[in-house]
Amino acid sequence: MIIEGSAPGSIDLAVESLLRDELIGLPTETVYGLASNALNDAATLKIFALKGRPVDHPLIAHIYDSNAVHHFAKEVPEFALNLMQAFWPGPLTLILKKMDGIAAACTAGAPTIALRCPAHPVAQALLKRCQEVGIWGLAAPSANRFGRVSPTHAEHVAQEFGDTLTILNGGPSSVGIESTIVDCTRGAPIVLRPGMLTLKELSHAAKCPAVMAQRPGAQAQTGDIDTPKASGTLESHYAPDALVRLLSTNEMGARLQNFRSPNLQLAIWSRSPPIGIEAKNLNHALMPDTPAECAKALFAQLRAFDALGMTEIWVERPPQSPEWAGITDRLQRAAHSGTEHR
Ligand code: TXA
Ligand code: MG
Repeated sequence: MIIEGSAPGSIDLAVESLLRDELIGLPTETVYGLASNALNDAATLKIFALKGRPVDHPLIAHIYDSNAVHHFAKEVPEFALNLMQAFWPGPLTLILKKMDGIAAACTAGAPTIALRCPAHPVAQALLKRCQEVGIWGLAAPSANRFGRVSPTHAEHVAQEFGDTLTILNGGPSSVGIESTIVDCTRGAPIVLRPGMLTLKELSHAAKCPAVMAQRPGAQAQTGDIDTPKASGTLESHYAPDALVRLLSTNEMGARLQNFRSPNLQLAIWSRSPPIGIEAKNLNHALMPDTPAECAKALFAQLRAFDALGMTEIWVERPPQSPEWAGITDRLQRAAHSGTEHR
């Protein structure tokens, strides 16, 4: 059931569901989340069951503001405080050392916890009200079945989980891809999942250099085995039903010239319409040419192509500048699913 997040009584209704240990759909500025009381293990385990998510993949706990950090974390380094001050509320998740004996389900038993303070006004209103009834944070992964495309509209959440779930509608998510995740437990800010914040912005705000985590394969080689799991960092993730190919502008042009496959329902997402596509009866959508607009459109566009019954989606590779890193990351994982499993 989708209810307007800003309508009178909606927040109370959602809080009542949470107090009954039920899950709710929650709008955030990045993507929609599937939320439970983060400190209630029984309720939080329902998230793993509903998503089909392995229980060793920890969830993010969403909090109202940085004052709530002390309910979850201990040892907050100076650079993490700097990052909170600069980017909260907003699309930044911090991994911190966890307080002992809490949130076992949310953290998948890890000694660390992921914390984020979302900026969306409906999320803010809900988290504020939650605090008033003693719910200090909401565990919420993206509200999609495990491995699939993240939801950026309330309707997407209903498509994923059906109509029995209470979903607060907060309109389309304004950022559109998931938060940047920064591990703050290793003495320096280490980016585990790129989002819309660049290394330069993070370093500037943290007042020390932020670095990208090595890829999982590279970590194994260097013996750094205790790096936490981040499912958004799996090679294959964010997969629509259609097979995604991420192609350079030239590759796309060359493939299209030779394209003669009447049985293939082909969609193209590119920054300018490739020449001659009308004649080949292809489905084309324009990729916005700023990173902010592109991120906002990305997941809804993949879902729209699926809804049209496309069998393949060819996406023009975004520019290589740092502002596009989060978008390229999601597209690579969506494309990887295709080549790996089909
Ligand atoms: O923007 C977002 O981050 C959205 C919205 C709903 O807030 N949430 C989201 O959650 O993307 P999810 O579960 O789809 O991704 C959370 C990521 C996962 O990759 C998880 O493995 C990682 O955060 N994570 C959670 N706790 C962690 C921890 N203690 N150490 C390392 N990674 C962690
Ligand atoms: Mg997710």
